[in-house]
Amino acid sequence: MAGARAGPKLPGRLRMLELDGIHTYYGDSHVLRGVSLSVGAGEVVCLLGRNGAGKTTTILTAMGYVKPRTGRIAYRARNITALRPFEIARLGVGYVPQERGIFPSLTVVENLTVFARGTRRGRWTLPRIFALFPVLEARVGHLGFQLSGGEQQMLSIARALMLNPTLLLLDEPSEGLAPMILQQIVTAIKSLRNEGLAILLVEQNLRTALALGDRHHVLNKGEICYTGSSAELGGNDTVLRDYLSV
Ligand SMILES: Nc1ncnc2c1ncn2[C@@H]1O[C@H](COP(=O)(O)OP(=O)(O)OP(=O)(O)O)[C@@H](O)[C@H]1O
Ligand SMILES: [Mg+2]
Repeated sequence: MAGARAGPKLPGRLRMLELDGIHTYYGDSHVLRGVSLSVGAGEVVCLLGRNGAGKTTTILTAMGYVKPRTGRIAYRARNITALRPFEIARLGVGYVPQERGIFPSLTVVENLTVFARGTRRGRWTLPRIFALFPVLEARVGHLGFQLSGGEQQMLSIARALMLNPTLLLLDEPSEGLAPMILQQIVTAIKSLRNEGLAILLVEQNLRTALALGDRHHVLNKGEICYTGSSAELGGNDTVLRDYLSV
């Protein structure tokens, strides 16, 4: 089994995200037990693991929603451990929550623009969003609650992009989606990666992870128990069976 390689050592400006020795608790419950990982510029790094392994907690900790008891978080070599979520978002970290967080009574356009005003100017505009997700343009006046699960997922990703992030934290974008919709989301994530966006992707769907990830970390009970490439992970029957129930 590969060791707990955190990832390649890169120059500061190319190290988009680094978690170093993170221990996170909910009350007395010790959930993350020394998680270290890094995401380099233009890389898609996947975080896999069973339900309750600590995947969402890792993302929440990186984003500042949950503060680690010990450990350090850096974005582009800057220590962000003490920053609040909105400050981290302003620096250029986009977050797509597992529950999507769509406002049910706002339209598609309102959902897209509600946070985007007054933020860093950048490449993402409504026309570019609609080119990435044409279905959202077709639903432009619909309210959040009228959208399908897949459309809500696309809207949630699109809303994060409107803040022009350079690093995207995606928590299980494939959860509960029909294969055809999932394929559209996979295609969109690939094109984001091709544009140079760095992505930390939580994914329980092994096929999706293997299709997208440059590197994979498997979490088990709050510890990274395996790190490898798609070829290494896809061929490691022991890890797939013991930690991913494949
Ligand atoms: N707010 C909370 N308070 C207390 N315990 C929590 C809280 N949120 C999560 N936990 C616990 O922390 C552990 C890790 O949860 P987490 O949501 O990070 O797992 P996950 O890997 O994202 O799981 P899933 O695949 O189901 O989304 C679980 O045991 C969970 O029950
Ligand atoms: Mg989760």
